[in-house]
This record gives sequence, C-alpha cells and structure tokens, in this order.
Amino acid sequence: MTPLYEGKAKRLWATDNPDTLRMEFKDDATAFDGKKKAQFENKGRLNNAISTLIYGMLEKEGIPTHFVRQIDDTNVEVHKVEILKVEVIVRNLAAGSFSRRTGIAEGHVFSRPVVEFSYKSDELGDPLINDDYIREMGLATPEELAHLRKSALKVNELLCAFFAKCGLNLVDFKLEFGRLATDPSVIVLADEISPDGCRLWDLKTGEKMDKDRFRRDLGNVMEAYEEVLGRVRQNLA
Ligand code: TMP
Ligand code: ASP
Repeated sequence: MTPLYEGKAKRLWATDNPDTLRMEFKDDATAFDGKKKAQFENKGRLNNAISTLIYGMLEKEGIPTHFVRQIDDTNVEVHKVEILKVEVIVRNLAAGSFSRRTGIAEGHVFSRPVVEFSYKSDELGDPLINDDYIREMGLATPEELAHLRKSALKVNELLCAFFAKCGLNLVDFKLEFGRLATDPSVIVLADEISPDGCRLWDLKTGEKMDKDRFRRDLGNVMEAYEEVLGRVRQNLA
C-alpha cells in the first residue's frame, strides 16, 4: 500500500469511505524546511493524542474541523479536504522568525495578536506572503481569506484560554485550513494542533515545551510533549 500523500510528519491514506482519509502521525521530526531531521519514539502517538483532544475541545466550542474520530494511537479519520496553500500563523508574543525579521526580542508581548500568512511550499521554504499575494496567486478568495483570519483569531482565543489553564503560555502557532471535498464552499480547520506547530512556554518557569526543544537542541523533547499531553488531559477532564 502506498499513501495518497506523505508529508514531513504525516501520511494520508485512503479509507473505505470516499469522503474521508486516514491521517497517520509519524515519529519523524523536521525543522528549518526539512534541513534538520530526527526521529523521536512516540512522537506520532503523543501528537495524535494532543491534537485529538484539542480538536475535540475546538469542535465543542463551535469550530468546524476535519476531525472525524481517532482510529488508534497514531491514526485519525478526517474529512477529505483540499488544503489551502496558505498557512496561517498567529502570534501572541514575539519569537522565532518574527524576532529574526524585526529584531524585537523573544518574549515581547504584543498588544493584539499578530496574524501572518505564509505560502505552503517546501521548495520555497514557506515564504511570508500578504493579502495581495494571496489574491494574485489565487490561493484563496478575499472572502475565504477574511474567514481564515477570523477563524484563526477565534481559535487563538480558545487555545490561549485553554493552554493557560494548563499552565502554558501560547506564544504562537500555525494553522492550516481546507475546503471540504463534499462541499468546497465549506472551509474547515485541518492538519494538526500539537507542540510541533505551536510554541508553548511554561507559565511559571518560561521553559520551552514544544518543537523548539528539537530546533535548538535543548534536549528532553519527548518529555516536554508528554508533559503537555498530561496537562491537556487533566484540564479537559
Ligand atoms: P516561526 O517563528 O518559525 O515563523 O514559527 C511560528 C510558529 O509556526 C511556530 O509555533 C512554529 C509554527 N510553524 C510550523 O508549524 N510550521 C512551519 O513550517 C513554520 C515555519 C512554523
Ligand atoms: N516544520 C518546518 C520544517 O520541517 C519548520 C519548523 O517547524 O521549524 O521545516
């Protein structure tokens, strides 16, 4: 069997249902556009568990997502979507590429969330784009883009509040959206929400609890993911 699609951290497989896919979380970790690679035992399981719990919380709060059900430790069933080539990043504090681009120190707290878009293209290294690029590149209609921005800010509110209960500061995160195969006028949240695509800092100690532990060689990568899962579980009970 060959997957329909293989990305850096996930594979997509067909199911018996033409409208759904199986999304498999791999143990592979990449950073810096795939230039840095490693494998972490249990990463797939941990990200699947965290993402499944978070998607359940978001669905309950009225956010439509691709999520159908968890199949097993490393697989979920998701609605088939056409992924928009626009990645939506929301930032509450300066970090990462924002700090590199602007010189504003990591940890600076924004007065309001910063929303940015990047073009989902591994070859080009996911470059930063804006509304005009998105229109001219035909990546999304202006109406779709307005919807992405509004949904991302709503998700940010929900995630910030939830992670705060978990003792975690949501610094920034990346979202992907897709048009439902069964009705492309409907856009749903897709991909995953896990420490791979979020920066989470411990509220008390400031310790990094996300993929920056791998990007920056801080060690104890899976220990941090395990801790995040434990806190997410505890606060959804
Ligand atoms: P950045 O500071 O490197 O631009 O990253 C911002 C956030 O988006 C961070 O939480 C990591 C996440 N992200 C991804 O999930 N995938 C990506 O390809 C990039 C560039 C960032
Ligand atoms: N996920 C991206 C990559 O694999 C970038 C990152 O997370 O640093 O290249």
